[in-house]
Amino acid sequence: MSLLLIAACSEQTDTRSAGSALDRILGRDISPEQITRDFDPDQVAHGQTLFQKNCAVCHGQNAEGTPDWRKPLENGRYPPPPLNGTAHAWHHSTEELKRFILNGGPPGEGRMPGWEGILTDQEIDDILIWIKSLWPDEVYQGWYTRIENRPK
Ligand code: HEC
Repeated sequence: MSLLLIAACSEQTDTRSAGSALDRILGRDISPEQITRDFDPDQVAHGQTLFQKNCAVCHGQNAEGTPDWRKPLENGRYPPPPLNGTAHAWHHSTEELKRFILNGGPPGEGRMPGWEGILTDQEIDDILIWIKSLWPDEVYQGWYTRIENRPK
């Protein structure tokens, strides 16, 4: 019995030592090939339509944001950032993004309106899928491993 346990333990250690602790923290033990975006094309298309109808007026037709989104306006507020993977939308998990879209920017700080009661949960999910479909592979992989599936 104890022999079996030892065998089981050392087996586990062997597997684990394949990646360094740092690799695990950075989520590098998930290889990029394992990360695929097999999004439902209907959902992507629906998300795009919803985005262009509701969000593009501020964030741009293709979520490219405003060119000077990094510069605060005179009132200290920021213009709508790109959501296409070139800014920092990908620093947030799906849950955080969804909450932000539902509630909008912090009152008094931003101009991002809240969408609670206007868009359904499903509609926001679809929009987020479309947004993620725009992100370059590298950005999506970084988001997937370091943000969405952040090692606990
Ligand atoms: C009236 C303009 C406006 C509209 C319409 C708008 N946004 Fe925004 N959005 C902003 C601004 C401005 C910010 C920057 C944060 C702030 O100031 O509140 C922002 C920020 C965001 C962020 C956070 C980005 C980051 O890098 O953290 C997300 C996600 C987002 N918007 C999604 C959406 C979606 C999805 C819609 C449509 C359902 C939408 N926005 C509609 C103005 C807008």
